[in-house]
Amino acid sequence: MNILVITGSPHRDGTSAAMAEAFIRGAEEAGHQVRRFDAAFRQVAPCIGCDYCRSHDHQCFRQDDMTPLIGQIMEAQEIVYVTPLYYHGVTAQLKAVMDRYHAVDDLIRGGGRRARIIVTAGYPRDWVFDGLKATMRTTLRHLRWEDQGGIYAYGIYSRDDMEGTDYLRQAYELGRSMDLAGLLSLGSSLTGQVLAGERPVSDYAACLVRLIPAVLGADDAQIDSLDIPDEARMSLFSDRAVMQTVITEEQDRASLLSTLLTYIASRQAGHANHSRIYMDQVTALRKALEGYYQTDVQKFCGS
Ligand SMILES: Cc1cc2nc3c(=O)[nH]c(=O)nc-3n(C[C@H](O)[C@H](O)[C@H](O)COP(=O)(O)O)c2cc1C
Repeated sequence: MNILVITGSPHRDGTSAAMAEAFIRGAEEAGHQVRRFDAAFRQVAPCIGCDYCRSHDHQCFRQDDMTPLIGQIMEAQEIVYVTPLYYHGVTAQLKAVMDRYHAVDDLIRGGGRRARIIVTAGYPRDWVFDGLKATMRTTLRHLRWEDQGGIYAYGIYSRDDMEGTDYLRQAYELGRSMDLAGLLSLGSSLTGQVLAGERPVSDYAACLVRLIPAVLGADDAQIDSLDIPDEARMSLFSDRAVMQTVITEEQDRASLLSTLLTYIASRQAGHANHSRIYMDQVTALRKALEGYYQTDVQKFCGS
């Protein structure tokens, strides 16, 4: 999954920077691709509400670091804000970034994007986040970005206050954790990378091994809400059913789910249903998995 981390603190080695680093380490270890934008150290001027963008095809009259950031937001599947609490909200540097969404609002809304927030605050009571939580909830609803929650670390005025707390581990685990949607997204992007020799098949197998319990444990509503083609959704329902009954060996389940991931990747690449390229990729990946498991795996051709 492509994750974009946007930080708000002016402290390079502050408490929220430590949380951002822990999250990114976990996310990279889990196989995500992470980009980071430190708003306090980039040029992002505040919106002045001139509405130049309304008559200039979403262009702001300013040309600053917001321009490449918008491109990164468009490419991201998950946006993670990491900020200290400043007067019960995000820092001015991060707020400037958010206000500049005004120019591109309808371009960045939805798109299956998800968002999280990680916040540190000095005050030792959790109600200190009430205002920020309400703002985030409302903003994400407006942007139609799925709210993935986050970490609200309180009683943390400086790095010393982090000693003896569990917050850095939580941030690391949050980065590492991946739900069904994340694993499907990671697996389908690995499909092309493994076939191109850019990633080892062991990375692909590791993703499939994590995907197996995620599929088995998924309920109908979770599968219904996935942003995948309808044929893939139907496949996922039937894959879950056959994995619960007849296909029980790990390598065969991996082969089954590999066919599904290849189908998703093929459709994302714009190939027609059951195209030749999809079929060839299914075969190539099945052979790669046979090499990895050093045994035959079951052959699945459908989507
Ligand atoms: C301008 C400013 C405003 C702050 N406002 C709050 C606040 O409203 N509530 C709170 O609990 N802490 C507040 N703090 C404390 C910071 O949230 C806390 O020190 C945080 O850990 C700093 O994170 P950093 O090291 O990543 O910059 C404020 C600090 C500053 C400098």
